[in-house]
Amino acid sequence: MTVNAPDYVKNSKLIAWVAEMAALTQPAAIHWCDGTQEEYDRLCQQLVDAGSFKKLAKRPGSYLAVTDPSDVARVEDRTYICSQKKEDAGPTNNWMAPAEMRTLLQTGEKALFKGCMKGRTMYVVPFSMGPLGSPIAHIGVELSDSAYVAVNMKLMTRMGRAVIDLLGNDGDFVPCMHTVGAPLAEGEKDTTTWPCNPTTKYIVHYPETQEIWSYGSGYGGNALLGKKCFALRIASTMGRQQGWLAEHMLILGVTSPAGKKYHVAAAFPSACGKTNFAMLIPPAAMGGWKVTTIGDDIAWIKPGKDGRLYAINPEAGYFGVAPGTNFLTNPNCMKSVEKDTIFTNVALTDDGDVWWEGMDGDAPAHAIDWQGNDWTPAIAKEKGTKAAHPNSRFTVGATNNPALDAAWDDATGVPIDAFIFGGRRSTTVPLVTEARSWTEGVYMAATMGSETTAAAFGAQGVVRRDPFAMLPFCGYNMADYFQHWLDVGNKLQGEGAKLPKIFCVNWFRKGADGKFVWPGYGDNARVLKWMVERVEGTGQGEGHFFGVSPRYEDLDWSGLDFSKEQYASIINADPDAWKAELKLHDELFTQLAYHLPAELTATKQKLEAELSA
Ligand code: OXD
Ligand code: MN
Repeated sequence: MTVNAPDYVKNSKLIAWVAEMAALTQPAAIHWCDGTQEEYDRLCQQLVDAGSFKKLAKRPGSYLAVTDPSDVARVEDRTYICSQKKEDAGPTNNWMAPAEMRTLLQTGEKALFKGCMKGRTMYVVPFSMGPLGSPIAHIGVELSDSAYVAVNMKLMTRMGRAVIDLLGNDGDFVPCMHTVGAPLAEGEKDTTTWPCNPTTKYIVHYPETQEIWSYGSGYGGNALLGKKCFALRIASTMGRQQGWLAEHMLILGVTSPAGKKYHVAAAFPSACGKTNFAMLIPPAAMGGWKVTTIGDDIAWIKPGKDGRLYAINPEAGYFGVAPGTNFLTNPNCMKSVEKDTIFTNVALTDDGDVWWEGMDGDAPAHAIDWQGNDWTPAIAKEKGTKAAHPNSRFTVGATNNPALDAAWDDATGVPIDAFIFGGRRSTTVPLVTEARSWTEGVYMAATMGSETTAAAFGAQGVVRRDPFAMLPFCGYNMADYFQHWLDVGNKLQGEGAKLPKIFCVNWFRKGADGKFVWPGYGDNARVLKWMVERVEGTGQGEGHFFGVSPRYEDLDWSGLDFSKEQYASIINADPDAWKAELKLHDELFTQLAYHLPAELTATKQKLEAELSA
């Protein structure tokens, strides 16, 4: 079939690849996305006509999609890193030899991608991860048979003709193949509103050839391939080769009342409040502190000529978790999703609005839940059913965010003053600790753990090690990744650069009553202020065996009634608890023994000695 490329497409590699993939997948038609609003509106209307989208009367330009019940989250157990050598994927990734995977997906007699787009349109989606033309940005092209993917990619990335223009005749791109894995028979009309393959899913990365192949899912991180697949798994391998960092981090600007501005990048596991932290509004009583958002999920960080680390947000939108979002936890987010938003798997109210558990105000008297069933508070009480899926999402462009940082789209990125690493821990880990050195900071990040939540499969409340919040997203061996972090720091220090400070935080300590002690959300600005003071060299604190934490008098308590006793219960580092904690670090280090940096084992021994002293 002819690939029908518009005149402005000059890149012969791209045209040849699209032709090759069309021959493999046999779509009924090919649509080259130009990224215009007119195209977006047309595709959304097409999804409405097909019954896949519902237009929301209460939110202009907004739609609701509900998925197949089998397709509601990232599928970590179906996600593969296909490096030539198994040890290069490491023990925390699923691995298959590239040749074997290619047989399964592309070349074998029954290869899954053969004819997988029959009866469907193949969308050619050119996108830039990062500001167009930024030296930190990279280009990808996704071929997908899902219009839902095409419109979400328009909100989540810089997508369309401008990217093709940037590619020119011979520019390079990361090829991203995606199919919902639900081909139609000759003459068959699609009757499903959420096409996917309910039984077979593969999310595959070839780090050496920098390719992504995704089969069977239409959902978020499995299907919007710019996000976790490219911006984390493939980009982390690029960064390792080229001396930069691709991280599961939000980026924010924090401006003091005196007008001094700092930038922070912070890593938290999924569903630990990254979007809330990135958009937080500091309490007015603190006297004019301001937080602005550069990104809420992913940071690409490269050393600049001045020796500082500069970060960009490779994305252009937010794909956030809806439940629990309200005007208290995240007012900027609530304002962002008032219009031009795609909601996935939340509930539909009778007046054409969306609803999820934890939204402000009373629950609606009646709604249609994410599975299409009647939902009332009585039904919820009786059957325990949720109106919105716990992992339901909103997709919205960054420009809807009232707290968007003026530099969010700057090609040079913003200079990072501090890294923050956090997990969800009801005990043990203090509210905030500053690492004494880059190596000790890397140790903290490498060993961070988080209690599992309802959003993840498996038992809840179990501490899972999630190094750097990258466990599901690192495209290579985690031990080599630790080494890469040490190398980046050592190199910059060797060149005389001043590295960002590293902090470890925990907003989630619980009291004897099982309730969170720390108010969190906007009040996290108090911790942020202390960090800024530490960066400036004015903040005070108290040293303990693994770093420096603020004393009660070192934090700004204006406008908050929080006692010394309460504070003591969330800032303490109990030696017995930490002896047990270090044993858990042992388990991680045993698992990652191959290539584990000696610097980290030495750091552990040092901490053990200090703890016993
Ligand atoms: C996300 C995730 O969607 O981390 O950002 O799961
Ligand atoms: Mn994430």
